[in-house]
Amino acid sequence: MKLQNDLLLRAAKGEKVERTPVWLMRQAGRILPEYRAVRESVSGFIELAQTPELAAEVTIQPVDLLGVDAAIIFSDILVIPEAMGLPYEMVEKRGPWFPNTVSSEGDLKKLRIADGANDLSYVIKAIEITKKNLNGRVPLIGFAGAPWTIFAYMIEGSGSKTFSKARAMLYKEPAFSHRLLQMITDSTINYLKAQIEAGADLIQIFDSWAGILGPDQYEEFSLRYISQICDAIQEVPKTVFAKGAFFAREAMGKLNCETIGLDWNMGIAESRKLIGPNKTLQGNLDPAALYGSPEQVQIATQKMMGEFRGSRHIANLGHGVYPDIDPEMVKVFIQTVKDFR
Ligand code: CP3
Repeated sequence: MKLQNDLLLRAAKGEKVERTPVWLMRQAGRILPEYRAVRESVSGFIELAQTPELAAEVTIQPVDLLGVDAAIIFSDILVIPEAMGLPYEMVEKRGPWFPNTVSSEGDLKKLRIADGANDLSYVIKAIEITKKNLNGRVPLIGFAGAPWTIFAYMIEGSGSKTFSKARAMLYKEPAFSHRLLQMITDSTINYLKAQIEAGADLIQIFDSWAGILGPDQYEEFSLRYISQICDAIQEVPKTVFAKGAFFAREAMGKLNCETIGLDWNMGIAESRKLIGPNKTLQGNLDPAALYGSPEQVQIATQKMMGEFRGSRHIANLGHGVYPDIDPEMVKVFIQTVKDFR
C-alpha cells in the first residue's frame, strides 16, 4: 500500500523532503493517559505486549493524539531473550527482571536461536494489525535491541548502573561472550526479517548501553554484531541508535545503514563531521528540555533544528521521552519541528 506520509522514509534515504519528519523514541506508552487506560485493562506490560489487538491500539495512539510522522510497534527489546529461552518479568516501578541469567556453557546450551515468525508471533501479528489499521497514514518502525545491550540484560538479570557482571564477562570469558553475542545476533536478524515481512517500513536498533564500553571493546563486542545485522537487512532503511557511543561515531559512519541516532551529549556539527555527509542523523533534543515552559521548548527545539539545517535529518529526542513529561509539551516539540523552515 502506498503511504500518504512517507517523509520518514524519504528522509532516511536522503531524498528530498518538504519538511523534517518527527517522532519520539518511547512515544508508545509511558506518557499518554490513553495508554495507561489500556494498560490498566490487563495484568501489566507483558500481557499488553502479547495481546496483538491492544499492542496495535497503543502503537497508533501517538499518531492520532500527538501527530507524529511515524508509529513504532509497541513491544520491548527484551522479547529476544525470552524467545531464546530466557523469560523476563516487568516489575512495577523497577523495570525488567530475569528469574534466570546466563553465566556458564551449560546455560548457553539451554538457549536456542529464535525464529522470529514463530517464537515472536504475537509481535508479528501486532505489526499486521497495526499496518491494516494505520491504513497507510504513516510508516511503521520495527525495532530490536543491539546484541550488546541484550547480552548485558541476559548476564546481569536486570537493569544496573554499571552492568559490571556483563562487563566482567567480556574480560573473563571473551570466547563465551562472542558465542552468546552471535546467538543473539542470529536471533535478531530472524526477528527483524519477520517484522519486515509483516510490514515494518524501517527498522531501528537500540544500543542503550553502548556508552558503558570503551572504544576497543565497543568495536569488538558491539559494532561487529550491529554490522552483521546491517549487512543482513537490505529490504528497508535501518537506523542505529547507540546511546553514549560518542567515541564510535566515525566507525558508525561506515556501517551499512541509512540513519545514525544521536543522543544530546553529541554535538551536532561535530557528529556530522565525524559521520560524514552520507547518513541521515536522527535526534537529538535533551528529553529534559520538555520539562520547560512552552516558550522554552520552542526555543530549544528551534535551536536544534537550526543546527541540523541543510543536512539529512529526522527530528527526535536524544533518548526516550521520560514518563512524567506532559504530553502537551511533546505536542509543542512536534509542532515546532513541523513549523520550522
Ligand atoms: O518506543 C516505543 O514507544 C515502543 C515501545 C518500546 C518499549 N520499550 C515499551 C516499554 C521500545 C522501543 C522499548 C525499547 C527498550 N526497552 C529499550 C531501548 C530504548 C531505551 O530506552 O534505551 C530498553 C533499554 C528497554 C528495556 C526496558 N523496558 C526497561 C529498562 C523498562 C522499564 C523502564 C521503562 O523504560 O519504562 C522497560 C519497560 C517498558 N518498555 C515500558 C514500555 C511502555 C513501561 C512498562 C509499563 O507500561 O509499565
